[in-house]
Amino acid sequence: MNDQTLAQPETQTDWWKGGVIYQIYPRSFQDSDGDGIGDLNGITRRLEYIASLGVDAIWISPFFTSPMKDFGYDVSDYCDIDPMFGSLGDFDGMLAKAHKLGLKVMIDLVLSHTSDEHPWFQESRASRDNPKSEWYVWSDPQEDGTPPNNWLSIFGGPAWQWDSRRQQYYLHNFLVAQPDLNFHCEEVQLALLDVAKFWLDRGVDGFRLDTINFYIHDRELRSNPALPYELRNDSIAPQVNPYNHQEHLYSKNQPENLAFLERLRALTDQYDARACLGEVGDAQRGMQILGEYTKGEKRVHMCYAFEFLENRKATADWVVETFRRFDTHAPDGWACWAFSNHDVRRHATRWDLSDGANRAYVMLMMCLRGSACLYQGEELGLHEADVPFEALQDPYGKEFWPEFKGRDGCRTPMVWEIQDEMAGFTTSSDPWLPVSPAQSEFSVDRLEDDPGSLLHHYRRAVALRHDYPALAHGSQTGMSAEGDLLTFTRTDGDEEIFCAFNLSDIAAHLTIPEGQWTAIAGVHSDLEAGAMDLPGWGYVIAKREGE
Ligand code: BGC
Ligand code: MG
Repeated sequence: MNDQTLAQPETQTDWWKGGVIYQIYPRSFQDSDGDGIGDLNGITRRLEYIASLGVDAIWISPFFTSPMKDFGYDVSDYCDIDPMFGSLGDFDGMLAKAHKLGLKVMIDLVLSHTSDEHPWFQESRASRDNPKSEWYVWSDPQEDGTPPNNWLSIFGGPAWQWDSRRQQYYLHNFLVAQPDLNFHCEEVQLALLDVAKFWLDRGVDGFRLDTINFYIHDRELRSNPALPYELRNDSIAPQVNPYNHQEHLYSKNQPENLAFLERLRALTDQYDARACLGEVGDAQRGMQILGEYTKGEKRVHMCYAFEFLENRKATADWVVETFRRFDTHAPDGWACWAFSNHDVRRHATRWDLSDGANRAYVMLMMCLRGSACLYQGEELGLHEADVPFEALQDPYGKEFWPEFKGRDGCRTPMVWEIQDEMAGFTTSSDPWLPVSPAQSEFSVDRLEDDPGSLLHHYRRAVALRHDYPALAHGSQTGMSAEGDLLTFTRTDGDEEIFCAFNLSDIAAHLTIPEGQWTAIAGVHSDLEAGAMDLPGWGYVIAKREGE
């Protein structure tokens, strides 16, 4: 790559709005030291590849010091790098190179809980009256010894763990090894703002904020009501997990959270062009919360939405319904959409997509209003890997096996080279999760050589969004579904772009709105005729010509 092809470091403050973010799961991206686990130097080595996709930013899942019970989402030192991933020096090197390539870097802050090995928790659990005694959520048992309320942990069992030292329970929304911080305690908020400041000073461009709506619990510890049967569905979380039988009115989503988000935003705004992306996980009120958290200029810039991460396919109807809800609950908010990530089955498998369907979906993502996250390997068309029980790592999967197999199938190593048994991921013969033999034919090197491959299609789709401001951040109107045919219009100033997608493998009849159109992607013929048969998974993206 010569200097001319390097994008200039962007200072434009709104880069995140409509931006495309590439998510890296660092354990599985690229190993550089032969221990079978991906690391920061591995990421550095592959940055040219990521830049070549044309994305604006990377989001790297946690690489902080951690006992790795939840693979880094259990942090024991927020301001250092786990030795398995490298050092702060390696991080700085990665950041500098990313910036040189024009890539923003977002890190994953897990503020809702720490590891039980974090010194804060060690101190907090030591007694009931130490200086950090209120830093976590402690409660006396009920008279009969049982936990204070009915809250459940997402990863199985009650959300309360007994601690014999304090003779009290502590709250953990996730693993027992992930105690929840007590955001009602001012010192906790200040300590976490210091963590954010540490990384902002180091030069990161933003944060993906893990489980942002879990920060604050109900002070009175009221029990959650049961979720009415008619509202239970398997689409986001499996029903084999009783967590999904409750309505989480009190264990999360508390209004006091807004004040903390405003403090975090005020801090971030002291720096140039930074962005906060909050992960809102709530099966019932996700969209309302997204609306509240991204409203105005004082809270987070955008929220990560779950609507297209569900088991339910993003059919034309569901896309229309999602934006209807968005317009109702978050009219001036901003969403970041994703089809895949490190927590759900890969969408090619989840929705049983052909190569053609994969192409239509990424093009759709690039045309939808909002920002977008792509998850490592989806540009290769990777399907979910089959990980046998003996190789399973994810505690969530171990808990609910075999009905729910956990998250290892989307976390297997990235597939770089077709010839290498370890897919170019590692020189170790024992990677932390098995390299999937079924994925080897989807390797980067093979797809690079084929200009017609899905990988090159992803590049074209991302480039299209950048070529047309209307697609990146224009308004979105007239969204409608007719069977599997989804149509809508994006507009920015004089630029008007009509988008039509046939989200099925059966041809559909499409009427083109009146006027003169030039196709900028998809089917190019017959636009003048005003109507056409759009083949299965076909699409038309067309720009209105001046009269
Ligand atoms: C992350 C998960 C993690 C959980 C607890 C999430 O939503 O994406 O991977 O297990 O938070 O930190
Ligand atoms: Mg390594």
